[in-house]
Amino acid sequence: WSQTATKADGVLSVGGVPLPELVSEHGSPAYVLDEADFRSRARAFRDAFAAYDVYYAGKAFLCTTVVRWLAEEGLSLDVCSGGELAVAERAGFPMERVGFHGNNKTLAELERAVELGVGRVIVDSFHEIERLASVTSERGRTVGVMVRVTAGVEAHTHEYIATAHEDQKFGFSIASGDALDAVRRVHEAPGLRLLGLHSHIGSQIFDTSGFEVAARRVLALHATVSEEVGVEMPEMDLGGGFGIAYTTQDDPSDPAQLATEITKIVEHECRALGVAEPRLSIEPGRAIVGPSMCTVYEVGTVKEVALDGGARRTYVSVDGGMSDNIRTALYDADYSATIASRRSGSAPALARVVGKHCEAGDIVVKDEFLPGDVRPGDLVAVPGTGAYCRSMASNYNHALRPPVIGVRDGKTFTVLRRETEADLFATDVGVL
Ligand code: LLP
Repeated sequence: WSQTATKADGVLSVGGVPLPELVSEHGSPAYVLDEADFRSRARAFRDAFAAYDVYYAGKAFLCTTVVRWLAEEGLSLDVCSGGELAVAERAGFPMERVGFHGNNKTLAELERAVELGVGRVIVDSFHEIERLASVTSERGRTVGVMVRVTAGVEAHTHEYIATAHEDQKFGFSIASGDALDAVRRVHEAPGLRLLGLHSHIGSQIFDTSGFEVAARRVLALHATVSEEVGVEMPEMDLGGGFGIAYTTQDDPSDPAQLATEITKIVEHECRALGVAEPRLSIEPGRAIVGPSMCTVYEVGTVKEVALDGGARRTYVSVDGGMSDNIRTALYDADYSATIASRRSGSAPALARVVGKHCEAGDIVVKDEFLPGDVRPGDLVAVPGTGAYCRSMASNYNHALRPPVIGVRDGKTFTVLRRETEADLFATDVGVL
C-alpha cells in the first residue's frame, strides 16, 4: 500500500480520500495514484543515490503529470520509444536529462532524439551505432552515447523480465568481445560522444548478488577500455530492477541500503582495477511508482466453485481484469486484495479475484482470503499496481481503459481520464 493508505471501519482511504467517494465521483474501475507517496519514493532514491543520477524508467508508468513531478524532484528520465519521448517533450522535461533506450529504435526516433537534444542514447546494436552516427553527421550534431552490455548473469526473476543472460535480445555481449568492439566504433564516430557502459540485469530482483556480479564485469570492461582503447569513460549505468513487495511474503528493496551496497562494490572494484570511478546512474521504475498506485474495482458477481478434496473457492468477478493488469496472466505475478468499502464480520474464505474478459486466465489476484459475505457492489482494492499495469493496459474485448485518479490531501484530480467509446472509434475508420 502507498504510505497514505488508511483503513477505518472497513473503508480504505488513500491520500485522505475514501475510495467509495472516489468511485462515486470518478467511477470504477480506477487506478488511484498517491502523489505524496510517488514524490517521496522519487526523493528517497534521489537522496540515497545523491552522488548518482537517478533516471526514472518511464516504461513502468508515464504521463505528463508524473513527468512534471520528476522534473520538480530533480530526477532524470529513461524513455524507450518515440511515444515516451513525446510525453517527455510535451511535459517540457529538460532533454539533457533524458536517456533514450531500445533495441530497435527507428531512424525517425533517432532523428527526433538528436534534434531534441537528449542527454544520452543507449545503443544496443552495430546497426544502430551506424544509423546514429549518420544522423548526427548529417546534422552536424553530437550526442552522448552509452553502450548497453550483457554481463552474462542469471538474475533471479521471471524469465521474460531477465535481461543479462547471453541468450536474449538486449545488449552487446561482454564475453564474446562485441561490447569492446561496440565501444571502439562509438569512440571512432565523430558525432558520438562515448559516455560509458550500461547494464540492466532484469526486473523485480531482490537478491543483490546479480548486481554485484554485473557491476564487477562491467567495471572490468570499463578498465579494459581505458587500457586498450585509451579512453576514460566518464559514466556508468547499472540499470533498474529493484523489487517491490506485492504481497506480505516479499521484502521490498530499500534505496538507502541498495545505494550503500552498490557504492561499496564500485569503490572496491575501481580501486582494485586502478581506474577512476565513473559517475554512476541507475534506472528504477517499479520501485518508485509500483507502490504509489492501487486499483479499485467493483464486484459484479460472486460464484462458489468446489475444488478437488471438497474445498471451495469463491470466484469474485470485478469490472476490470487482464486489460488493466496483465501481470498475473503474463508472469504469474502475485497480488493481494481487500474489501475497500465496508467492514465485514464474516469469516474469511479462499477467493480468487477475476476480471470480465473472455478467457479463463483473466485473473487479477490468484489467491486471497476475502470475507465470506463478499457480494455485488463491494469495492475491491488491489495494491501495488503502479508499475506495468496502466502502461501495459489494453483494449482487449473493447474494454475502455480506466482513468488514473491522483489523490492528495483529501482531494482528487484526474491524471488520465477514462477512455470512452469515442476513443475506441477514433481509430476505427471503416465504412459507416
Ligand atoms: N532500465 C532498463 C534498461 C529496463 O529495461 C528496465 C525495465 C528498467 C530500467 C526498469 O526496471 P524496473 O526498475 O522497473 O524493474 N513488464 C515487466 C517488467 C519489464 C521491465 C522492462 N525493463 C513487469 O511487469 O514485471
